[in-house]
Amino acid sequence: MNENEHLPPATPKKAITYASYLRVDELLALQSPVSDPPEHDETLFIIIHQVYELWFKQMLHELEKVKRDFRENHLYGAMATLKRCRMIMKTLVQQLDILETMTPTDFNSFRERLETASGFQSAQFRAVEFMLGYKRPNMLGFHEPGGPGQALLQHHLQMPSLVDCFYAFLIHRGYSIPVELLERDLTQPTETNAQVQDALLDIYRTKPDLANLLELMTDFDEGLQEWRYRHVKMVERTIGHKPGTGGSPGADFLRATLFKPVFPDLWAMRHRL
Ligand code: HEM
Repeated sequence: MNENEHLPPATPKKAITYASYLRVDELLALQSPVSDPPEHDETLFIIIHQVYELWFKQMLHELEKVKRDFRENHLYGAMATLKRCRMIMKTLVQQLDILETMTPTDFNSFRERLETASGFQSAQFRAVEFMLGYKRPNMLGFHEPGGPGQALLQHHLQMPSLVDCFYAFLIHRGYSIPVELLERDLTQPTETNAQVQDALLDIYRTKPDLANLLELMTDFDEGLQEWRYRHVKMVERTIGHKPGTGGSPGADFLRATLFKPVFPDLWAMRHRL
C-alpha cells in the first residue's frame, strides 16, 4: 500500500461557510443611516427598501424564466414560475405592514435627510413594469445617463415583454395573433386587442389547463395592483397631502397609478365569461 494515499491534501481548501457563501459581512455593512443624532426607525426604513430591491431582483430573474417558457411552449414551467412570482408579490404587499408600524412623527424625524431620494427612482421596479409590458420610454429620463439603472431600463424597453412572449405561446397553442401585435413597436406599452380577447375567451371555454395559466396571470396582476393600493394608503397615513421627496404631488400622483392592469386583455374580456 502506498503510504501517501490516505494523507489529507497538503494545503486544505478553505471550506465554504454560511457567512462566506452568502457574503453576510458585506451584506450587513450596507446599511448607512444618515440621521444625526441617529433616529431609531431609519434602520427599518433602509432595510425594508433593501429587501424590496432584492425581491425585485428575484422577480426580474423569475419573469425572465416565464418569458423563456412562453417562447418555448412550456406551459407547466411557466405556471410553476408564475406561482412563485405571485407568492413574491404577496410578500411584497405584506411587508408594508411592517413599515406601517412607523408613525408619521417617527418618519418626520429623518425624512428631510432623504433629500430628493424616492422609490420613484427604483430602476428595478421600473424594469419589472417594463418587463410585464407597462413600458414608458420617458421613464429613462429619471435615471443617470449612462448609469446602470438607465442601462437596465434601456434593455427591457427594447426586449419583447412578457405579454409579447405570451402571444408567441398562444401561437404555439394554435391561436392566431394579429400581425400589428407581432410587428408592434416593442418600446410601447401593451394595448388591448379584440382578437386576443377572443382567444382568451376560447381558452376559458374549452381548455381548462390553459385557463389555469390565465387565472395565475390574473392573480399576479391583481397582486401588483394591490401593492400599488397598499403603498398609496401607507403614503397617505404617513405623509398625508405633503408632496413626495421625489418631487411629485405625493399621494395624488400615486392614486393616478391605481387600477391599471399589466394584462389588460384578461380584464377586458371577463364580462363575456
Ligand atoms: C414611509 C414610507 C414611504 C413613503 C412615505 C413613500 C412615498 C412615496 C411617494 C410620495 C411616491 C411618489 C413619488 C415621489 O414624489 O416621491 C412614492 C413612489 C414610489 N415608492 Fe414609495 N414611499 C414609501 C415606501 C416605499 C417602499 C418601502 C417602497 C418599496 C420599494 C416604495 C416604492 C416606491 C415606488 C416603486 C414608487 C414609484 C411608484 C410609481 O411610479 O408607480 N416606497 N413613494
